[in-house]
Amino acid sequence: METRVTEIAEGVHQLTTHVAEMSFSFNQYLVTGEEPLLFHTGPRQMFPLVSDAVSRVVPAEQLRWVSFGHVEADECGSMNEWLGLAPQSTVVQSMTGCMVSVGDLADRPPRPLADGEVLDAGSHRFRWIDTPHVPHAWEAGLLYDETTRTLFCGDLFTRQGAYDASSTDDLMGPAIAAEDFYSASSLAPASGATLRRLAELDIATLALMHGPAYTGDCKAALLDLAADYDRRIAV
Ligand SMILES: [Fe+2]
Ligand SMILES: [Fe+2]
Repeated sequence: METRVTEIAEGVHQLTTHVAEMSFSFNQYLVTGEEPLLFHTGPRQMFPLVSDAVSRVVPAEQLRWVSFGHVEADECGSMNEWLGLAPQSTVVQSMTGCMVSVGDLADRPPRPLADGEVLDAGSHRFRWIDTPHVPHAWEAGLLYDETTRTLFCGDLFTRQGAYDASSTDDLMGPAIAAEDFYSASSLAPASGATLRRLAELDIATLALMHGPAYTGDCKAALLDLAADYDRRIAV
């Protein structure tokens, strides 16, 4: 396996590892600047690949922030490996996530962010958005880079297989097929409304965790995904 590194917006680097046996791919996003941030750590077993990919862009030990949407191995499995490698780094997650899990799991105290709170990383401003149970997990949230108008949207629009780094192709067809296959999303009564709230952001790029960076009509894509959630909940 190897990890592809692509700059998908100014200072935003997508790291992609395709796992052929699973027909599935994992992205992390490295945002460079005064205080480099990594969104998703990758699973623990991928740490050698991901840390090598980060090192191709910035010295890995200079990482300042480690963030992720919810507590799962691909989102945060190597969190403590990163805390060990980068001595100045701090984990950033939701208030709920820090209280329930991350405060205990992380080797150093995390920095909790409230819904709507901004993390000023110098060259980038990141806004935390709580999305409880979307796509899954109580502590779920997403990070919006106000500087490049990139929404790191985690497992939303997950697809199977390999993909290009960036795309404007329809997200919904592959996302519906993957949801039919995995049933990975929590279909809670408020899930559609949570997605419609995300659609109100001014988004240039939807940075998928298991799919390309999408630069088409991001608002329409989120509204389409909300409609698909509503349809599934109604069923
Ligand atoms: Fe997940
Ligand atoms: Fe994921």
